[in-house]
Amino acid sequence: MASKLKKLYICSNCGYETAKWLGKCPDCGSWNTLNEEVRIDAPPQAAASAAACAAASVPAPVTTLDEVESGEEIRYITGISELDRVLGGGMVPGSVVLVSGDPGIGKSTLLLQMCQPLSAMLKILYVTGEESTRQIKLRAMRLGVQNNGLMLCACNDVGQILATIGQNSPDLVIIDSIQTISAAEISSSSGSVSQVRECTQRLTRLAKEREIPLFLVGHVNKDGAIAGPKVLEHMVDAVLYFEGERNLSYRILRAIKNRFGSTNEIGVFEMLDTGLAVVDNPSMVLLAGRPEQTSGTCVTAVMEGSRPILAEIQALASKTSYPMPKRSTNGLDFNRIAMLIAVLEKRCGYFFGTLDVYLNVAGGLRIDEPSTDLAVVLALISNLTDRPLDESMVAFGEVGLAGEVRAVNRVQQRVGEAYRLGFRRIILPAHNVEAINLKNHPGLELTGIRSVRELRRLFG
Ligand SMILES: Nc1ncnc2c1ncn2[C@@H]1O[C@H](COP(=O)(O)OP(=O)(O)O)[C@@H](O)[C@H]1O
Ligand SMILES: [Mg+2]
Ligand SMILES: [Zn+2]
Repeated sequence: MASKLKKLYICSNCGYETAKWLGKCPDCGSWNTLNEEVRIDAPPQAAASAAACAAASVPAPVTTLDEVESGEEIRYITGISELDRVLGGGMVPGSVVLVSGDPGIGKSTLLLQMCQPLSAMLKILYVTGEESTRQIKLRAMRLGVQNNGLMLCACNDVGQILATIGQNSPDLVIIDSIQTISAAEISSSSGSVSQVRECTQRLTRLAKEREIPLFLVGHVNKDGAIAGPKVLEHMVDAVLYFEGERNLSYRILRAIKNRFGSTNEIGVFEMLDTGLAVVDNPSMVLLAGRPEQTSGTCVTAVMEGSRPILAEIQALASKTSYPMPKRSTNGLDFNRIAMLIAVLEKRCGYFFGTLDVYLNVAGGLRIDEPSTDLAVVLALISNLTDRPLDESMVAFGEVGLAGEVRAVNRVQQRVGEAYRLGFRRIILPAHNVEAINLKNHPGLELTGIRSVRELRRLFG
């Protein structure tokens, strides 16, 4: 039987396949993401019994766990401290890392900058599918990347790229971007799910065979998902997401998947004319420009991976002009905020029923840790009652539905960071107070809280 062309529709978000077009993807629920693609199906194998299959195949070698040589784990340190942190302590040979983010956020900049320290020890191939080599050269000059050995290649064909890797044997390969690469055998256009999946598969296989780290740049579509493929996320070892507010110069690199390290780590950068600069002291940056003597702001301490970071939570409650009051959050979980407002109404007697409520994390940080609850609640009450909070105060603690304030982890690190930055008063869960050694923090005042009801006391 000859192979035949098969027309099908594939969701560009999650990779769901269907024979007929649908407006909404039944798998991930996105609208208008099903695109027509053509696939060549190989003739189906004659249905064979399991026993017949087994007889026809050669068994794969089996090794016991203690026979496997572990060897030393090798990591290439990029020298960009915040990048190494997010990668889990440098790059692992043979690993495939997807760097994704909005256009213009700085993906190409980061990867080109990374070439500077690495090129001293590694042979690097930078494949560009969307820019010319001259454009890369101009960027390298602006970023001060001087490296005559860096190999550039402007190419869109995956077969050609694989051949180039074979011929030049680089120690590290960067593909910018995976959506511009295509395989000639597949008829759909570059950037489609079939193309992205196929090209990634081939490149990944080669990276694993040759034990070279591979970086793929992936664009993000307007919903914030990696364009083409959520599928892509499953195929790679690590997914780094580059995020930031358009109008702010700060950029946060976050690992949303990492087979070789923690996924909670973030790296903080600042975008300058000369490229991305590492921010060593993110708390200081996030707190810069904090308003003085203003109601509705409270500083909290969150754990981003192994590192404590201070961030300012801002709340604004104003009279609504809508039939339904508006709730809006930026950097915090919307449902969590709705819950905290409900807890304040039911357990504390602070009412927001006729007020629009806006919540914001200053500096563009996104937080999804419940330990921010106490600071959110304090900022809300402060703004509602128009009483500014003590400026040298930091609050953290999880709030439950009964209004109870629950213990959080890594208290000492949070308190230590707050103390280091000059905060001398900490509002925290009562259960966490004992864990703190006041001897190391002269002049520190701790207020343990059991329930949000006790907060009334703070506002007199
Ligand atoms: N000539 C320039 N001078 C200063 N900054 C620039 C210049 N060109 C680009 N940039 C900065 O670099 C960013 C683009 O980074 P880039 O790495 O190309 O993004 P991506 O690869 O994620 O699309 C721009 O948003 C801008 O902030
Ligand atoms: Mg780019
Ligand atoms: Zn889908």
